Amino acid sequence: MGYSRSGILTTTVSIAVIGAGNWGRRVVREIQTLSRQSRTVNLHSVVDNSPTALASCEQELGPSDYRVDYQSLLSDPDLSAVHICTPTSTHFEIASAFIKAGKNVLVEKPITLNSREAYQLVEQANAERIVLSTGHLHRFNNGLRALKSALEPRVLGEPYYLELEWTAILPPQSHGEVINELAPHPFDIANCLTGQWPAKISCTARGYRNGNNEEVAFITCEYEDGLCADIELSLLDPWERRKLKVVAEEGSANLDCLDQKVILRHGERIVNMPIIPSNTLREEIRHFANCVSRNRLSQIFYNDNSGLLGAQVVSCLEAARESLFEERPVKVNFPSQYRESVVMQ
Ligand SMILES: NC(=O)c1ccc[n+]([C@@H]2O[C@H](COP(=O)([O-])OP(=O)(O)OC[C@H]3O[C@@H](n4cnc5c(N)ncnc54)[C@H](O)[C@@H]3O)[C@@H](O)[C@H]2O)c1
Repeated sequence: MGYSRSGILTTTVSIAVIGAGNWGRRVVREIQTLSRQSRTVNLHSVVDNSPTALASCEQELGPSDYRVDYQSLLSDPDLSAVHICTPTSTHFEIASAFIKAGKNVLVEKPITLNSREAYQLVEQANAERIVLSTGHLHRFNNGLRALKSALEPRVLGEPYYLELEWTAILPPQSHGEVINELAPHPFDIANCLTGQWPAKISCTARGYRNGNNEEVAFITCEYEDGLCADIELSLLDPWERRKLKVVAEEGSANLDCLDQKVILRHGERIVNMPIIPSNTLREEIRHFANCVSRNRLSQIFYNDNSGLLGAQVVSCLEAARESLFEERPVKVNFPSQYRESVVMQ
């Protein structure tokens, strides 16, 4: 523990990164940067069960404590938290082990493959009084924050509908499909803006290059108050788009989540909102570390990307898949105690 220049009590949060693939390396790089900037975060170690992945991580990011197994970390008193960047199929097992060991956990999105496991993690985290967060990093996107602050005073009147486009071109996937791969952020962003979860979801999807795995999906979300959201997902589109449009009573708003630009149209007036783009991943890790520090000091600190949010997103993913297989609109099933929405502060 120490004191920052402003006199605020600070603690160093020592984080291990589990999974040193594409995303895990970006996470390691951001933790290294944060650790150079302030003493509030420290890279404890990097774990990957592939020695090849570890070797190439070391070559890219320099010396660190590299390990092929995370078991020894469970009882390490110097470790405060882990950021889990392994494939989604492994999230539950790894997150559960660390939560039971009393470590704080940030799990990449989607938090788990099914909602039963997701809510189980939320319950375990509550019981252990540790911080559980999910990788819904657009909560830290300054474009989304600006758009939310512009829509809240109802400048554009009541929103009618949202359109989200989440597209990219990826090689054919041997496992994994477009809904789990791309839908978590659009579901989360729609919740962040509206404070609501869909009541009903319809989904159609197709795979083209290898039949079984869906590569494009079209999802329609219906909300209790009449709002609709249309989500287009594609792993086949050479134009990478991360876009949101809100059409409301008195105008519309367009957000590009990549460059964090917002354009509002109110009648004939067109406004480019002044926004300084954020490094969303760095802000997510900084926020997680703050939650962990405050938790240690028994201070309440709102968790902007909590594990519960991650679990509610998994409920939406499941409804989309059920709709796809049953070829009908499906009600989204939230456990009764978790029906409340999580709204960004
Ligand atoms: N938040 C975001 O915007 C975002 C973006 C990309 C990926 N992700 C998520 O990050 C996770 C990882 O994605 P990726 O693209 O880096 O995958 P990847 O396949 O490139 O990397 C995964 C790594 O985990 C390792 N691994 C697998 N099982 C392990 C285990 N039991 N213990 C230790 N290491 C293990 C693999 O060897 C591999 O190096 C996924 O859940 C993905 O959805 C999130």
